[in-house]
Amino acid sequence: MPTFSPDSVLASLSLEDKVRLLCGKDAWHLHGLPEHNVPEVTLTDGPHGVRLTDEHTLNDNTHPATVFPVEAAMAATWNPELLHDAAAAIGRECQALNVGVLLGPGLNGKRSPLGGRNFEYFSEDPQLTGIMATAYVQGLQSEGVGGCIKHFVGNEQETRRFLINAEIDERTLQEIYLAPFAKAIREAQPWTVMGAYNSLNGEFCCQNSDVLQRLLREELGFDGLVMSDWSAVQDKVLAHANGLDLEMPGPALRDDELLQAVRNGDVAESVLDERVIRVLRLIKRIEEEQRPVTVDWEAHHELAVRVATEAIVLLKHEQSLLPLSTQSTTALIGEFATEPRFQGGGSSHMKPKGMTLPLSALEQRGTVRYAQGYKDTGTTDELIAEAVTVAREADQVVLLTGTTDSMESEGFDRANMELAPDHVRLIRAVAKANPKLVVVMQSGSAMDTRAIEDAAPVILQAWLPGQGGGEALARVLCGEVSPSGKLSETLPLRLEHNPTYETFPGNKTDVTYHEGLFVGYRYYDTKKLPVAYPFGHGLSYTTFDLNDLRIEQNGNDAPARLQVTVTNTGQVAGAETVQVYIHDEVSTLRRPEQELKGLAKVHLEPGGSETVTVTLDERAFACYVTHLGRWAVESGRFEIRVGTSSRDIRLREWISVESETEVRILPSLEDPVEEWLADSRTSPVMRSVLDDLGFDDQHPMAAIVRGFPIPQLVKFIPWMGHDEATAQRAFQRLAEQRSAVG
Ligand code: BGC
Repeated sequence: MPTFSPDSVLASLSLEDKVRLLCGKDAWHLHGLPEHNVPEVTLTDGPHGVRLTDEHTLNDNTHPATVFPVEAAMAATWNPELLHDAAAAIGRECQALNVGVLLGPGLNGKRSPLGGRNFEYFSEDPQLTGIMATAYVQGLQSEGVGGCIKHFVGNEQETRRFLINAEIDERTLQEIYLAPFAKAIREAQPWTVMGAYNSLNGEFCCQNSDVLQRLLREELGFDGLVMSDWSAVQDKVLAHANGLDLEMPGPALRDDELLQAVRNGDVAESVLDERVIRVLRLIKRIEEEQRPVTVDWEAHHELAVRVATEAIVLLKHEQSLLPLSTQSTTALIGEFATEPRFQGGGSSHMKPKGMTLPLSALEQRGTVRYAQGYKDTGTTDELIAEAVTVAREADQVVLLTGTTDSMESEGFDRANMELAPDHVRLIRAVAKANPKLVVVMQSGSAMDTRAIEDAAPVILQAWLPGQGGGEALARVLCGEVSPSGKLSETLPLRLEHNPTYETFPGNKTDVTYHEGLFVGYRYYDTKKLPVAYPFGHGLSYTTFDLNDLRIEQNGNDAPARLQVTVTNTGQVAGAETVQVYIHDEVSTLRRPEQELKGLAKVHLEPGGSETVTVTLDERAFACYVTHLGRWAVESGRFEIRVGTSSRDIRLREWISVESETEVRILPSLEDPVEEWLADSRTSPVMRSVLDDLGFDDQHPMAAIVRGFPIPQLVKFIPWMGHDEATAQRAFQRLAEQRSAVG
C-alpha cells in the first residue's frame, strides 16, 4: 500500500490544504489527501464501546458492537487489569470497523451527584479515575487504536455546558481535575485529547492558551493531537493560534477566517504547520497501526459480563437473603427486566451486538414469575396490584429500579437524586406483600436510598451495566459469583450534604468551584458527616481479614512500599479491594482528612490468602503549592490507612517523610508576628527580638502582640517604655534576617 511521510507532505501543501486539514471532513472523518496518499481516517465515540454510524452525520443509526458497562461501573470494579482487557476488546472492534481513534474515556470529575454525565466518568476520586483511565487507554492502544481522553478540562456539568465558565483555583485544578489527565498522559500516552466546551477561568478551553499550552503541553508534557469537542470552537483563529490542532466536526465553515489571519500575519504559518503536522502524524499512526482482526463477539460479550459482574456493589445485605435460593420461586419485578436499562443517553448511546435480559438470565436458573411493575417512570394501580400478587405468591422478590433516560443523560443535569416517586410507591407496596425483597438499582450515578431503606433489606447498585448486565446480575444474585464491586463515589445521606449543593450548577455565566479540594469523601470524611454508603464500600458473600501491614521506605524519602496480607475467612470464593489512604498529620496547606493513593484487588478461594503490594510514589504525599508553581512534599508524619472503604480502615501506621522543600510563603516585613513565629526561617530572630523587648509568653500583652503586623510592633515598642532606637534596631534585625533567608 502506498504510504506517506508527514514531513514531506507538509512541505508540499498549499496554505488552503493546510487549513482544510485542521477541520474534520464530516462528523466522524478527517480529510484524506489522495494525491499525497494520505488516507481518510475515522474517529468515533466512545467510551463504553464503538459507536460507528454508516453515515457522515450525527445520527443514531449505528453498527452493532459490544456495549460494555458505563465508566461509572467500570470504575466500581476497582480492577484495572480487567478494564485493560475490556478496552483492548473495544480496540479490536474498532480495528474491525476501521475506526482509528475512539473518543474516550471521559476523565471529568464528579463534583455533584447531579452531573448529567456522571455515568460516563469514572469517579469522584482523581487517583481512582487516573488508574482506571490509564488502564483503559493502555488496553485500547495495545490494539493499535488511539484513545482520546476528554473533556479537557473543568467540564463537570451539563447545564449551559457550551457557555459556562468554570472558575477553579490552581491548586484544586491541579490536585483534583488535572491529576487524572496527568496520570493517563504520563503512564499511557494517549494519542489524542479532547478540549472541553466550557471556559476555564475566563476563556473557552479550546482557545485557551493557559489550558492548551501551559497546562497540557508544558506541564503535562502531552505531545499528541488536541481536538475540539464537537462544535466547541468559538473563535477558530484564536483556537489554532492558542494551541488547538483539530476542529471537530466538519464540514468546515470558517476556513476563510483562518486563511485570512495567516495571510495578514496574525497567525504565523509556522504555528499552522505545528498543528498540521500533528494531524498528519495522527493519520500516519492510524494507518501504520491498522491490522486485520477477527472479532470473537462471544468472548467480548463474556468480557462485558465479567466487567458488569465485578461492578455490582452490594450496598446492604440483611436477613441473609442472598444468594437467592434457585429451588424457590422468585418474583422478578420491573420493566428493566425485559427492557433493560443498560446504557446512558447521548453521544455514547450504542446499538448492542448481543443482550442478555435479566428475565431470561434468571429464568435459566430457576422458577421466575415476572411483573412489569412500572412503565418508564410511571406506574398504575393495576401494575402495582399485579406486582403485589406476584410478590405475595413467590418465596423471594427481586425488584429492578433506577433512572431512565429522562432522568439521567448527556445534555442536562439531574434534577435530584431520588427515585421516581412511582417506583418508590411500587417498592413499598411490594415490600409489604413480601418482605424478602432485593432491590437492584440501575443508574449511572448516586441515588438517594432513604425512601426505600426500611422496605428493602438488600440493595445492590448494578449501574448501567452494558449488554451483559442481565447475565451479570443473575450470576451475582444466584451466588455463582460473589459481589466485589466497590463504590467509586460516595452515596451521601442527602443531596444537601454535598459540598456543591449551593454552587452547582452555578449562575448564567459562571460556576465557581468553591468547595475546592473538598469533593466527595474528601469533604464528607473531613466534616465527619454521616453518609448513606461511603466511598469504596461494597459487601461480599464472604468475609476478609487484612493483616500484617508492612511498610518499607528507602530512608525517610518516599516512595513507600506497602504490603498487606488479605485472607478470605468465609465459606465462598470472593474478591476484596485493599484501599490505601494517607492522612497528613500537620500540613501548612489545608488538606482533606484522607486521600486515596493506591489499591489492589485480590480474588481468593475460601481460606485463601495473598500478600498484595502497593507502592506510594513521591506524588502520593505531595500537594500542589501554587506560589511555587509545582507539586511539593512537606516534611512530616503521614498515617497510612489501609481499609476496605474510606470508612472502614482496618490497619494504620505512621511514617515520616522528609523533604527539602519549604512550603510556607516566607513572611514579609508587613506580616504579623505570629507568622514569623510559625516559620522555621524567621522564628528564631522573632523570638529573640520579643525576648529582648520583654514580650515573653508570660507577658499580659503576648497574645495580642502576636497578631501585630511588624510595622505595628515597631510602633508599639516606644509605648512599652523602650526608646525609638530600640524599635529601629529591632526592625533592622528582622529586615536583615528576612533578606538573609529570602
Ligand atoms: C460530546 C463528546 C463526544 C462528541 C462526539 C459531544 O457532544 O461531549 O463526548 O465525543 O459529542 O459525539
